Amino acid sequence: TSAQIGVTGLAVMGRNLARNFARNGYTVAVHNRTAARTHALVEEFGQEGDFIAAETAKEFVAALERPRRLVVMVKAGEPTDAVIQEFAPLLEPGDMIIDGGNAHFADTRRRERDLRERGIHFVGMGVSGGEEGALHGPSIMPGGPKESYDSLGPMLEKISAKAADGAPCVTHVGPDGAGHFVKMVHNGIEYADMQLIGEAYQLLRDVAGYSPAEIAEIFRTWNTGRLDSYLIEITAEVLSHVDAATGKPFVDVVVDQAEQKGTGRWTVQIALDLGVPVSGIAEAVFARSLSGHAQLREASRGLAGPKAAPLNEAEAAAFADRVEQALYASKIVSYTQGFHEIAAGSEEYGWDIDLGAVSSIWRGGCIIRAAFLDRIRAAYDARPDLPSLLSDETFAREIADAQDAWREVLVSATLQGVPTPGFAAALAYYDALRAERLPAALTQGQRDFFGAHTYRRVDRDGSFHTLWGGDRSEVSA
Ligand code: 6PG
Repeated sequence: TSAQIGVTGLAVMGRNLARNFARNGYTVAVHNRTAARTHALVEEFGQEGDFIAAETAKEFVAALERPRRLVVMVKAGEPTDAVIQEFAPLLEPGDMIIDGGNAHFADTRRRERDLRERGIHFVGMGVSGGEEGALHGPSIMPGGPKESYDSLGPMLEKISAKAADGAPCVTHVGPDGAGHFVKMVHNGIEYADMQLIGEAYQLLRDVAGYSPAEIAEIFRTWNTGRLDSYLIEITAEVLSHVDAATGKPFVDVVVDQAEQKGTGRWTVQIALDLGVPVSGIAEAVFARSLSGHAQLREASRGLAGPKAAPLNEAEAAAFADRVEQALYASKIVSYTQGFHEIAAGSEEYGWDIDLGAVSSIWRGGCIIRAAFLDRIRAAYDARPDLPSLLSDETFAREIADAQDAWREVLVSATLQGVPTPGFAAALAYYDALRAERLPAALTQGQRDFFGAHTYRRVDRDGSFHTLWGGDRSEVSA
């Protein structure tokens, strides 16, 4: 017999993805650099479906039916290139290499181009949902040549998560690096969501005076409303967890320095290159990096803070309600920024990404899955050329309803000295976008003053320069 799909790289994500294929009735060839892992998988989970254990690259390739579909689940970066170099010479035109790691989309574009020259289809595939998702149904974001999706798509649709309406959480995102690009932005939004939730927690704790267990209850309530999402759900779990060794809230025994593997940072780096303002995502990345500067924080501990008194009990409940509104409004803004980046990437690289389809496949399986994404999908379905999520009537109205509370929360945060870079960046973005005039006019004047960089006028076409060092008359530039 031969396998319809192969998975090489059997660390937890690869192993669970292989099991997912097998549990869905596919014969799966499995391979790992050290064969012990391959045999361990088959020994432990062999009864779940049909596996073919391959010890060598040659055996692995020989086990696959043609055209071959070979899923690579190794660490992003050099290890991926090494695996491609090992397998590509053994493949034939029409075969497919599918990279399910968190690759940088520029690497995916390069690999796709190189392999295309050899007749091999390269599919850069974003996979979200962690270990559990890989096993029970992830959200899958494949890029690569469209024709590869004809045969690969149905298999992915089978193993993917399903949204509440039954739709599979996978679509052909676009050519070459489009899938990994969208996965990157997914992670950027994930960072922003997590930061906003963190700020809400800190406000409820330091301004309203709630305990972690009480805050967990508040999050549980929020999770029954418009904030219904996986991240809110697990936040309640983490906050209600008590450390067995000390009896303290778990959140109080964890070192408060957040780590990151890089996808959030990439989202911001690429946004800078594309000229897309993703300020909320950027603040989330910076907040993680600030938290990690232990010495700097230690050296800064004596700096003066405000003396405002925390809220009393009656005020606290009303404050919690306002925090929910601030969180929701800020969340709308970070998704607005993330979708802007996807639209800009799509434009830059000619991917023709369907934003409605992206929101649709994020409804299930992935880390940012949320009821909210159904509404984003509806917004793009109603108007595929929506210039921004904020131009959607429903979202605009919701923000309008939330804005007073949002502003008040930021006032409280400022008066109490609680850092809320995510909430604040989101509100600043909102206020800047709706502003009639921005101080950018002054910036242009300054640039013209010191560097003759020229400016445009509101009342006439063309570029102009004022003779600042002379008689200050204006000349056409
Ligand atoms: C997912 C996640 C995943 C990511 C981790 C860790 O969609 O399943 O985004 O791909 O690697 O969440 O990311 P950080 O280590 O950067 O926080």
